[in-house]
Amino acid sequence: MIKKGIILAGGKGTRMSPLTKAVNKQLLPLYDKPLIFYPLSVLMLAGIKKILIIVNKGQLNQFKKVLPENNNLGLSIEYKEQTRPGGLPQAFTIGEKFIGKDSVSLILGDNFFYGQSLTKILKKNINLKSGAKIMVHPVKTPSLYGVATLNKNHKVLSLVEKPKKTNSNLAVTGLYFFDNDVIKFTKKLRPSKRGELEIVDLLNLYRKKNKLKAEFIGRGGTWLDTGNVNNFYDASNFISTIENRQGLKIACLEEIAFKNNWISKNDLKNAINFYGNCNYSKYLKSLINA
Ligand code: G1P
Repeated sequence: MIKKGIILAGGKGTRMSPLTKAVNKQLLPLYDKPLIFYPLSVLMLAGIKKILIIVNKGQLNQFKKVLPENNNLGLSIEYKEQTRPGGLPQAFTIGEKFIGKDSVSLILGDNFFYGQSLTKILKKNINLKSGAKIMVHPVKTPSLYGVATLNKNHKVLSLVEKPKKTNSNLAVTGLYFFDNDVIKFTKKLRPSKRGELEIVDLLNLYRKKNKLKAEFIGRGGTWLDTGNVNNFYDASNFISTIENRQGLKIACLEEIAFKNNWISKNDLKNAINFYGNCNYSKYLKSLINA
């Protein structure tokens, strides 16, 4: 059972400059919450309470203002700084001590997931006994992502990072589940041509040992990219549409914690004090009175 999760919230967010010059991308508003709330909510929905957030050097205080270690979410949140961006698998060397002898999930700080079956799929995936698991989803432009080719039995036949040409429309999403070998395998990796360790190389080490599985989010599920300004706003609009129609929030962290029985009504009250007088707090109040 996977009980630990890493959120990779480093990166310079160059594609969104100048928005990201002074503020980390993961702290920018995706509709009514900082972007990082969304990947964190995914780990929480999976039932993961031990979280490591990896941030850029010099940005710890920004993050701690909104997600303090001492929080009202029933979570254990630790932070580590990434001194030099060296690719996604760096998460496992920076997080080596945090992971210890356990298995771990990794989610990229800018990935958005939503859908009816999501929690069920997540709960299934954290049962991983050995090997690694990726989540795949069809996209119109696979060349922007890691791309997987699967056979009929969902066996991963190939994995390529941002291929110019491909016959597959299945993108590898930024949510991964690994056994403890991930630390050992990461140490075997060498930087690619662009000078970084590649997540696809790490996954291919598992694949070559027949230890990589793929899971579909399913057609009714949503996986959105927040990589550039346009899709950032598309994702914002998506959230605004759903929330304003239903009156229910996506990625309200306290709501998830409360429904998971990790926090009490008193913690919700503390959270309201923490956020102050705002719509988010009003929503929390409605949970207390429900
Ligand atoms: C990264 C990974 C890619 C994956 C994507 C998902 O790409 O390298 O394999 O499909 O995240 O968001 P990046 O967005 O860092 O270019």
